[in-house]
Amino acid sequence: MKPKKSYPKEVYLNGEWLQPEAAKISVFDRGFMLGDGIYEVAPFYRGKPFKLKEHLDRLQYCLNEIRIDFDAYSLEKLIFKALERAGLTESDAAVYIQVTRGVAPRTHHFPEKVKPTLLLYVFPVKLEGFEEKSWKVSVAEDFRWYRCDIKSISLLANSMANEEALSTGFDEQLLIRDGYFTEGSHTSIFFVKNGRVYTHPEGPEILSGITRQVVLDLCKELEIPCKEKALHLNELPEVDEIFLTGTTTQVMVVDSVQHKGKEIFRLQGDSVTAKIQQAFIERVGE
Ligand SMILES: Cc1ncc(COP(=O)(O)O)c(C=O)c1O
Repeated sequence: MKPKKSYPKEVYLNGEWLQPEAAKISVFDRGFMLGDGIYEVAPFYRGKPFKLKEHLDRLQYCLNEIRIDFDAYSLEKLIFKALERAGLTESDAAVYIQVTRGVAPRTHHFPEKVKPTLLLYVFPVKLEGFEEKSWKVSVAEDFRWYRCDIKSISLLANSMANEEALSTGFDEQLLIRDGYFTEGSHTSIFFVKNGRVYTHPEGPEILSGITRQVVLDLCKELEIPCKEKALHLNELPEVDEIFLTGTTTQVMVVDSVQHKGKEIFRLQGDSVTAKIQQAFIERVGE
């Protein structure tokens, strides 16, 4: 089912707090014209940030990779201000941050001396109860570019994958490159096989998920053997559990996987995933 979304009450755009309908950018903003920008989403559990430094580190890494001159860490104060202004200091929420290269006459090369465009807002999210849900997912070819480690605002390929899944009754689409699972349209993928946890190694094929790293750390603490190794589609019959991670998805168990109209995985039991979910709930509550 497609979830319903609404606009935030207010957004911060280039130094001003505005109603969403009053927030305007130039048609020559390179974010609008070329998808030339980076975004980030970070969560707040009952008003408390979770892994905010890691989210800002990733934002800074991505901005540096595409040479947008912007200090991600300068946003910290503004993020808390936005949380306060949204009246969400006691609730579960998330902040959306977008930095584009800014406004300049259209060129393929990067223009010089352009002021980046900053958009930021806080929105409410339901983070509780994820462990009671499960997702039915589909599999399709990963036709995205080869810098998926960059959290680019150009999300057309991810959006097409997600749309295909949701419009055909699935909750997410898992992507395969040369037969190997990379990640979901907006999630990281984990497999459990003979008590061992597997996830795709970091690199240009996947986004370095913040939740992914939290889960890797939890596996270490729980002494669950874990390997950063890509799994092939052909290995799915040997897989016992699959779960997906993401900032708002958190740790979601997968109960079935379909590929080309055929069911290729059905969950038998979810003991490892349940253990990780429990540890995750404790971690975000600390
Ligand atoms: C393609 C992709 N992979 C993985 C993730 C999960 O990353 P994180 O845990 O940092 O939210 C996301 C989140 O948006 C994503 O878009």
